[in-house]
Amino acid sequence: MTRVIFLGLPGSGKGTQAAVAAEAAHIPHIATGDIFRRHVREQTPLGKTARQYMDRGENVPDDVTIAMVRDRLAAADAQPGFILDGFPRTLPQAEALDRLLGELDAPLEGALYLKVDPEVVVRRMTGRRVCPKDGAVYHVESNPPKVPGICDLCGTPLIQRADDHEEVARHRLDVQWTQAQPLLPYYSSQGKLREVDGLGDVAMVTARVMAALGLRAG
Ligand code: AP5
Repeated sequence: MTRVIFLGLPGSGKGTQAAVAAEAAHIPHIATGDIFRRHVREQTPLGKTARQYMDRGENVPDDVTIAMVRDRLAAADAQPGFILDGFPRTLPQAEALDRLLGELDAPLEGALYLKVDPEVVVRRMTGRRVCPKDGAVYHVESNPPKVPGICDLCGTPLIQRADDHEEVARHRLDVQWTQAQPLLPYYSSQGKLREVDGLGDVAMVTARVMAALGLRAG
C-alpha cells in the first residue's frame, strides 16, 4: 500500500511508526502537525493562524488544514504515494481527502488505526522530547536518547512540545477522542480500515504496522 493514512489518538505513536513505514516504502511521511510547527517557527501567516489553536490543544480549522494538505499532495514527491499522519482527523477532512484523491484518480488504499488506551497516550505525550532541528522523536523512558536531553542524530538539545504539558495534552485527547470517532466507521464501511495494537515497545508495534501495510523493513 502506498496511499495510506495513519489514525490514532495524540501520542499513540503515529509519527514514530509513519516515519519508519514511509522510509521502507520510499514515499514521503506527511505529518500535518509537523508542517504546522514549521510554519509557527518561521512565523508565516499560516503559522500565526495555526498557533492560536495548537497552543490550546484545539484543531486548526478544517478549511485551513485541507488547503494546506491539498498543496502538499500536489508536490512531485507525493505522486508515487504518501503516508499521511494526523490528517484527516475530522469527518469533513476525510470527505475532502476522498474528493481530492478522486480528482487525481488515485484513491486512498488504507487507513491504519493505531489503537492505544487514553491513559497510555497521556504518559507518552508528557514524556516525549523532540529535536527542534531534525524533528527526531524520543521518550524519556521508553525511547531515550543515548545522552540525556541530546539528539542522537545531530547533537542538538531536545525540547518538550508546548502542547505536551499535561493539561494541554489531556485537552488534545478529549478533542481528538470526540472529533475522530466518526472516522473509524467511515473507513470501515469503505473496507479500508486496518486496526493495529499500538501497545508494546516500538519495535513490536513496527512489526505489526509493517505486516498490516505489506512492507518489509530496510
Ligand atoms: P500532531 O503533531 O499531529 O499531534 P497529534 O495527533 O496530537 O499526535 P502526536 O504528535 O501527539 O502523537 P503521535 O501519535 O505522532 O505519537 P508519537 O509517535 O510522537 O498535531 C499537533 C497539533 O496540530 C494539533 O493539536 C492541532 O492543533 C494541529 N493539527 C495537526 N493536524 C491537524 C489536522 N488534521 N486538523 C486540524 N488541526 C491539526 O509518540 C508519542 C511518544 O510516545 C513519543 O515520545 C514516542 O517516543 C513514544 N512512543 C511511540 N511509540 C511508543 C511505544 N510503542 N511504546 C512506548 N513509547 C512509544
